[in-house]
Amino acid sequence: MLLTLAVARAVRGTEPLVAAEIRRARLGAVVGVRHREVWFEVRPGAGLLGLRTADDVLLAAAVVDGVGHGRSALARLARAARGIDLGAPGGPDVEVSASFVGRRNYTRHEIEDAVGTELARSWRLRYHSRRDGGRPPAGATAWRVTIEGDQAVIARRAGDRPLHRRPYKTASIPGTLHPPLAAAMAQLAGLGAEGFRGVVLDPCCGAGTTLIEAHALAPRAGLARFAGFDRDPAAVAAAAANARAALPPDDPDPFRWGLADAGRLPVADGSVRRVLVNPPWGRQVPPRGLLGPGLEALWREVRRVLEPGGLAVALLHDDPGAGGTPGGAPAGFAVEQAVRVSLSGRHPVIAVLSRRGRAGRGATR
Ligand SMILES: C[S@@+](CC[C@H](N)C(=O)[O-])C[C@H]1O[C@@H](n2cnc3c(N)ncnc32)[C@H](O)[C@@H]1O
Repeated sequence: MLLTLAVARAVRGTEPLVAAEIRRARLGAVVGVRHREVWFEVRPGAGLLGLRTADDVLLAAAVVDGVGHGRSALARLARAARGIDLGAPGGPDVEVSASFVGRRNYTRHEIEDAVGTELARSWRLRYHSRRDGGRPPAGATAWRVTIEGDQAVIARRAGDRPLHRRPYKTASIPGTLHPPLAAAMAQLAGLGAEGFRGVVLDPCCGAGTTLIEAHALAPRAGLARFAGFDRDPAAVAAAAANARAALPPDDPDPFRWGLADAGRLPVADGSVRRVLVNPPWGRQVPPRGLLGPGLEALWREVRRVLEPGGLAVALLHDDPGAGGTPGGAPAGFAVEQAVRVSLSGRHPVIAVLSRRGRAGRGATR
């Protein structure tokens, strides 16, 4: 039997988490991990579009070896594209986006045009180049070419949109979290574990992404509850709207959203099993209220509300000037696990934090 090779695209640093989700969800057998990619042989009937930690999932049409740094690589890729059997082309328009690791004597647009022109010629399609900033028409079949070392893959998007573009996210706020990163945080928090129960809290919930992704990952036993607070009424409204859009119509609503300052949460001591938080670091979103002078009040509250054995999973900023804790834990916490990621030129860390020592209001470092 011929196996389908799929390529899951990932935020840099999260590749092992994507591989873990592929295995846990029994989507297939992981056969390779590259820069921002996990390659896997698809299990027949697997629901690929349910992958949450991946940015996108593609079906490989050709793996091309011997793709060097010189310009002869373009002819090699064009030849490979010519040999692709499209089956059902999926519409009259085609677009290609390319990327590579390392320096090359050709550009990404040259790769895109080499492959796109051949796909269009072989299958009588219209190729829409991204050169000169052109945007392909909606509904164009999306292809992707990636090169690492001397190996390229030419692959076609499995769905009709990139996976990271969640249909539920109709309301947004500045600084909202990339959903696959939120899903990675939920996975690191162990929300996918069978029988997970208890309260999951985001004290700076913004548009609700962390909790909505956590809910999607938690087993559908209705055992977990999700509480999100923010100081900004527009954020709370956005979170509630997104959660409504994410919930199947007949499902009970496990979410509670409220207006509160993360420095003084309306939450009982030791009542929360997991905290997921992407704090305001003052870049796109300023910390306000009790967090204005610094994030100490946030960490104190997170520490207070966590139950014994509870964990917080936080996106910690890489910039010391932003008041973050690069390379270290916030006061009162130990780092159990740290995953450095790269997103939009920044390199924050997803840190899994456990409480150190005695908790309680007023507990200090
Ligand atoms: C980086 S954003 C969080 C984004 C969120 N994870 C999402 O996916 O949309 C930080 C959030 O912290 C909120 N915030 C700022 N100061 C706050 C405070 N003192 N208490 C609670 N929330 C605060 C902002 O309103 C903003 O929504």
